[in-house]
Amino acid sequence: MPGTKKTKLRLETQPQDLLIKWASRVVIVLLLVAVGGFLDTIKERWYIFDPSELHELAQAAIASSPNDTAGMIQHIVTNLTLTHPSNQIKLNIDSSEWVFNNAGGAMGAMYIIHASITEYLIIFGTPLGTEGHTGLHTADDYFNILVGEQWAFRPGGLEMERYTPGMVHFLPRGTAKQYKMHEGCFALEYARGWIPLMLPFGLADIFTSTLDIVTLYHTVRVTGREMIRNLFIGKI
Ligand SMILES: *[C@@H]1O[C@H](CO)[C@@H](O)[C@H](O)[C@H]1NC(C)=O
Ligand SMILES: *[C@@H]1O[C@H](CO)[C@@H](O)[C@H](O)[C@H]1NC(C)=O
Repeated sequence: MPGTKKTKLRLETQPQDLLIKWASRVVIVLLLVAVGGFLDTIKERWYIFDPSELHELAQAAIASSPNDTAGMIQHIVTNLTLTHPSNQIKLNIDSSEWVFNNAGGAMGAMYIIHASITEYLIIFGTPLGTEGHTGLHTADDYFNILVGEQWAFRPGGLEMERYTPGMVHFLPRGTAKQYKMHEGCFALEYARGWIPLMLPFGLADIFTSTLDIVTLYHTVRVTGREMIRNLFIGKI
């Protein structure tokens, strides 16, 4: 009613209540830190791929299909399908399923071969070239160059690092670099660690720059679908 003052029942907070509230918050945070720390020590048990096997596979793909990027990708997917039973790990064998990826200022496209909570394996690249920040990640990253070159440096480096086909650019978790695919480059990228924590970096440019909601939709759809397919067979 007009003119009527709303009266609110205001409960005075007792100092003890406040103490209990904050104490329980601290306990919850400490518990989360402890669980997170424990999970971090055992995450290796969920890894299926092996970085040196993937490196050999990338080199074999280059050797078997020179000058043929599509042939290299086919070689990789065929080999992985033969060597990894589908009750152990789920792979996305549809190599036409590419989506844009804008992250750290760089732009390319990716084909997600595998995504789960602790690992992903993608083909990433662009025939045009791009340059940006690698991102600071909670996963180790193995970037196996298939075609073209990737250059990189970190603060203090006065000469660039140069990665050519057959080489692997290893970026340990917690480190970041500037990188450049000078004239187009495609790579088999393998990451192992806490993959969901990498997703904000992979999606941030959509919200702050490209506003490409079609890409957002397909990135979330394919990543989510692959993670769930893997969870269903117990692949974390
Ligand atoms: C898969 O690739 C690896 C590395 O090149 C090779 O040693 C292995 O024999 C291949 N397996 C199949 C089934 O093609
Ligand atoms: C690959 O391409 C390069 C440059 O175009 C050429 O020199 C080379 O002969 C090609 N190799 C094969 C196996 O086609």
